[in-house]
Amino acid sequence: MGMYAIIGGTGLEQMDGVEEVQRHLLETPFGKPSSSLIEVIFEGKQVLFLSRHGEDHSIPPHKINYRANLWALKEFGVESVVGVAAVGGITAATGPGQVVIPDQIIDYTWGREHTFFDGPEVEHIDFTTPYCKVLRESLLSAATADNVDVVSVATYGATQGPRLESAAEIRRMEQDGCDIVGMTGMPEAALAREIGLCYGCCAVSANWAAGKSEREITMEEINENLKEGMEGVRALLRQLFRGTLV
Ligand code: HPA
Repeated sequence: MGMYAIIGGTGLEQMDGVEEVQRHLLETPFGKPSSSLIEVIFEGKQVLFLSRHGEDHSIPPHKINYRANLWALKEFGVESVVGVAAVGGITAATGPGQVVIPDQIIDYTWGREHTFFDGPEVEHIDFTTPYCKVLRESLLSAATADNVDVVSVATYGATQGPRLESAAEIRRMEQDGCDIVGMTGMPEAALAREIGLCYGCCAVSANWAAGKSEREITMEEINENLKEGMEGVRALLRQLFRGTLV
């Protein structure tokens, strides 16, 4: 399957417990990626790690240079990318702490640099299946092998942020068929497809989405739930890179 990269989101700004080999500071035609590409040895495999919001978490979702991030990974020779993302849970199975491997996505973002095909080359990618089937299968097998409980069919609704949603926005998203809501799933998934990267998403529910619980959503709650959920993701990733799955 070639070289893998992990794009780490909120709650996974850094990869702990792995051997860091080298940092690669790349410049792309679209500017700088969110962080250096951090080359690590993870379960004996060479893996690149990129911190989506920067290692100090200083880049909000709408300011992330998604094009530079994906371009840098491609240029480095990466073939498969696992995008790890914190999300809000909309439907019943996606409560706080739950790991979700979505199979579909709806884009509600706007005003982002969202394509490599800005002309003069006109190109329309097929996006029927927005996540790479092979990688999704590997992620699900890893979850089974390591007994990590995951929701394996789910639609990710990508919102603009940085504010959270209103209860009515979440009701509308649920009617649209969204199970989880996050702010970074797009254009990341589409850019990966445009550039020929096999991209899969591993989401962790940090909170019930707006209006789905009585409580106000706080960053403290989000960070607390993520700690637990990211343990599941780390276990899943360890399993992914171990043995024969990759
Ligand atoms: N909405 C959007 N993005 C999120 C949320 C949410 O409730 N939780 C974590 N990321």
